[in-house]
Amino acid sequence: MPNTIIVGTQWGDEGKGKIIDVLTESADVVVRYAGGNNAGHTVFIGGQKYVLHLVPSGILHRNKLCVIGNGVVVDPVSLVEEIKGLRKLGVKVDSNLVLSETAHLVLPYHRELDAQREVLKGKNRIGTTKRGIGPAYADKAARVGLRVIDLVEPERFERKLRDRVRENNEVLRALGAKPLSFKQVFEQYRAAGAFLKPLVANTVLLLHKVMRNGKNILFEGAQGTFLDIDHGTYPYVTSSNTTAGGACSGTGVPPNCIDRVVGVMKAYTTRVGGGPLPTEDNAISDLLHSLGREFGSTTGRPRRCGWFDAVVTRQAVMINGADELAVTNLDGLDTLPLIKVCIGYRCGKTRFDHVPADVEQLARCEPVYTEFAGWQTPTGAAQRWKDLPAKARAYLTAIAELSGAKLRIVSVGPDRHQTIFV
Ligand code: IMP
Repeated sequence: MPNTIIVGTQWGDEGKGKIIDVLTESADVVVRYAGGNNAGHTVFIGGQKYVLHLVPSGILHRNKLCVIGNGVVVDPVSLVEEIKGLRKLGVKVDSNLVLSETAHLVLPYHRELDAQREVLKGKNRIGTTKRGIGPAYADKAARVGLRVIDLVEPERFERKLRDRVRENNEVLRALGAKPLSFKQVFEQYRAAGAFLKPLVANTVLLLHKVMRNGKNILFEGAQGTFLDIDHGTYPYVTSSNTTAGGACSGTGVPPNCIDRVVGVMKAYTTRVGGGPLPTEDNAISDLLHSLGREFGSTTGRPRRCGWFDAVVTRQAVMINGADELAVTNLDGLDTLPLIKVCIGYRCGKTRFDHVPADVEQLARCEPVYTEFAGWQTPTGAAQRWKDLPAKARAYLTAIAELSGAKLRIVSVGPDRHQTIFV
């Protein structure tokens, strides 16, 4: 398999976890490059549900090396819990998981600040996962972050943490929040550091060695293109580069070593949290929620749902350089008699065929729709392209064409086996 980046083309939750799981079969190494435990990748294997937050989904395959890259922000306490939880389910996690020594840490004051800032924003809140992601990346950019390399050196960690807790307690007090106990944080994090130490390495050198040995890498994206700090619907975004470019900065693997980008998209659109969602539709939200679908795997929040938005996916294909597409959740549309697809926006007299950068303008945009006849047949048992109803094939072909890349994979259910290669 060529070195491949898997990236979300919408607002996250496109079903990347499952696609990564399927493609891992032919990969040697799987590396996460951005985000933190705000992500939740759900994978079903033989009826067992696995929800992964920081550990790459490749861990569910034996004999694959999984790497948490330097671009990820790591809450070490929650990583330890995740590893222990996986081991309890019988998943092997030891020398097959490597953690970058230069990944930044998420600390309790980041979570507190995340929560406090959301309260201050009131109705304009971002709707973050409250995992401290924004403040952790802000500290990284401000050059006051603590890294894994600090965590595993208790003396240095104690010294640096003491300063950071002191400063952040001033801020928390000013916001009317309770200050943190340095001692408690230190003890908890020192224990997590001791647990994680055997997994820590220079992952840049490791990944280059892997490539020199002729092995291939799957880059696991988290969140989606429109949550990217630069290319998303700012400020309703996460705080990392979730797009394909982030795979290089977040791992130390250069662009000329990337062979392929696969853009993952749902057959409709969803988003969690605040911010504009032009094709949002209550009827489709109600339908999907009534089927028990579209609840967040990290926070359990119901996701906002809407029709497929080809303006969004076309722009995502452009920004990520997506060569191939994986369309997931086709079966979510199985019962509908009529399916809409957004092909442009209208804002007053202006027509857009791209996503306007100004979120206030985007929020005023009205979608321009084209319509497709629904197939009204269950698709979950389809194994091959030709098993799909003709109307479903027509729909898939059209949304891939509108997005501007080659349709490669169709997912018709959560299980590994419910995957069609086109
Ligand atoms: P944060 O990443 O927790 O700061 O949240 C910022 C925005 O990104 C919010 O709208 C979250 O709902 C959204 N977000 C973060 N991670 C995910 C994810 O894995 N899936 C979908 N939305 C996410």
